Amino acid sequence: METVILGTGNSQEMRIAIDQAVDQLERGSIVGLPTETVYGLAADALNADACATIFEAKERPSFDPLIVHVSGEKMLNNVAEIPDEIADVTYDLIKEFWPGALTFILPKKEIVPDIVTSGLQTVAVRRSKNKIFSEIVNSLESPIAAPSANRFGSISPTSAAAVFTELSGKIPLIIDGGACSEGVESTIIKIEPSQKKKPLIKILRPGPITPEMLKKFGKIDKHQHSSEESSSLTSPGQLDSHYAPNTPLKILNSPEEFDFNPSKKYALLSYRGQKKDGYLELCDWTHIETLSPGSGKLPEAAVRFFFSLRKLDELGVDEIISEPIPERGIGFAIMDRLKRASYQFS
Ligand code: TXA
Ligand code: MG
Repeated sequence: METVILGTGNSQEMRIAIDQAVDQLERGSIVGLPTETVYGLAADALNADACATIFEAKERPSFDPLIVHVSGEKMLNNVAEIPDEIADVTYDLIKEFWPGALTFILPKKEIVPDIVTSGLQTVAVRRSKNKIFSEIVNSLESPIAAPSANRFGSISPTSAAAVFTELSGKIPLIIDGGACSEGVESTIIKIEPSQKKKPLIKILRPGPITPEMLKKFGKIDKHQHSSEESSSLTSPGQLDSHYAPNTPLKILNSPEEFDFNPSKKYALLSYRGQKKDGYLELCDWTHIETLSPGSGKLPEAAVRFFFSLRKLDELGVDEIISEPIPERGIGFAIMDRLKRASYQFS
């Protein structure tokens, strides 16, 4: 199958791209679409056969459920139940963070096909703030199931070119909406009622909506489920190894940990590219990729993170070395991805 990329550089191109995407989705096909977090591989969420194609194209195991994207509260209520005990906090969070990078795990409604939720009784729901994505879900008038548009386990795509690298030949269409403005996947939360005043907000996957931003709405539980718990299907996608490059990746918590081998070629993923951090002169790096040059800004680092990891992976070095990222704000989500990306090499 030939994979076409449609640009959205001017209003005419944008119109054509949106119409074609909606047309493909209506016909039960799958399409690579931009969102503010990462590119998604989209299908009509109410079309079970179309959703099955997502799993095939991604080579994604059927036990890993998809996120359903809605156009607003009406569509949310079509796909999910909002239990009375958590209704106040859920609507407060929606008011504050939607459209945006916050995904809720809620009891699912009958209309959502089992394949979307991998047989779970809950569904993951979010509303994207990307303009192109929003127009498409509005025109389709049906929710859109979209996991990240990469092959299962590999680096998430934050550009149309990255989607092409991952899935060309397997999908008919990619809409190029430029680089993603957030750069890491949405924060996934599950809210649990509590006898105490504040509900419990469990962060199943850290993302752009940070614990600091959520804490005024409830008590935050940052504990992520281990793979044993995952197999009990509380959060099946949160595997220890994920987002992995082909090149071995190691996080060095301090420069002293570097175990230099003169016959190897190394590349460095640096946070702010500063000599004083002690990494730049550890060896003769084949390449140094800096996430946020200068004083280091975490949102900028997030935007560049997957893009930089992908670039380093394409260099053909023997090892990628990464500096640690400060685990505050969105840095918590970046370190989560970095740890999972390096897991199989540690
Ligand atoms: O930002 C995002 O969330 C992007 C864009 C495209 O929207 N999507 C995304 O999807 O990251 P994906 O499939 O790569 O990650 C979805 C995660 C998986 O870890 C999956 O296990 C979890 O959501 N998930 C989906 N439904 C769930 C459910 N009912 N209970 C627990 N976890 C669920
Ligand atoms: Mg993913």
